[in-house]
Amino acid sequence: MVIIADATEADLNQIYEIESKSFDNPYPYSLLRAYLFLASKLYLVAKNGDKVVGYVIGIIQYGYRGHIVSIAVKPEYRNQGIGSELLNEIEQRFKQNGARYSYLEVSISNLSAISFYYTNGYIISYLRKNYYGRGKHAFVMIKNLYYKFLD
Ligand SMILES: CC(C)(COP(=O)(O)OP(=O)(O)OC[C@H]1O[C@@H](n2cnc3c(N)ncnc32)[C@H](O)[C@@H]1OP(=O)(O)O)[C@@H](O)C(=O)NCCC(=O)NCCS
Repeated sequence: MVIIADATEADLNQIYEIESKSFDNPYPYSLLRAYLFLASKLYLVAKNGDKVVGYVIGIIQYGYRGHIVSIAVKPEYRNQGIGSELLNEIEQRFKQNGARYSYLEVSISNLSAISFYYTNGYIISYLRKNYYGRGKHAFVMIKNLYYKFLD
């Protein structure tokens, strides 16, 4: 069974391993560690027993918006709803801390992540050119945390 918990220093090696497997340009270990202090209570792990199988880092900006800094799930644990659970929990924490909306950058070539965010209520807001380096553009995707869709 997978549970969502606050990340701790003891989780860092496994978080870094997932980060390295998930991104071409992974965040360095030192930055992932710094976020433990910068983003306390907005740094979550998904755990299967002692094993970290996913994580999400968020920050609140200007007191009214939540930024998803990074989210990744261990490759063999993907497509089981774990990413959505992490996203839902960080959005709840954003709301508790006064955020009105949540947003993130995603590479325009990362179609599975774009689909994942869309399924979770995010829409593409605009293009941020060269965000990941020359010629590597990002979409900014946004979710209003208060708007409710009618069925
Ligand atoms: C993006 C990412 C975090 C999603 O994590 P995940 O755990 O696979 O997410 P979920 O399982 O909640 O959702 C993924 C898909 O699986 C589907 N799914 C969820 N539960 C499922 C289940 N039990 N059975 C089958 N499919 C399922 C979802 O509907 C979703 O489909 P969609 O994306 O086509 O809408 C993960 O793919 C990842 O780590 N990618 C690499 C890092 C990355 O790109 N991060 C985002 C950078 S901006």
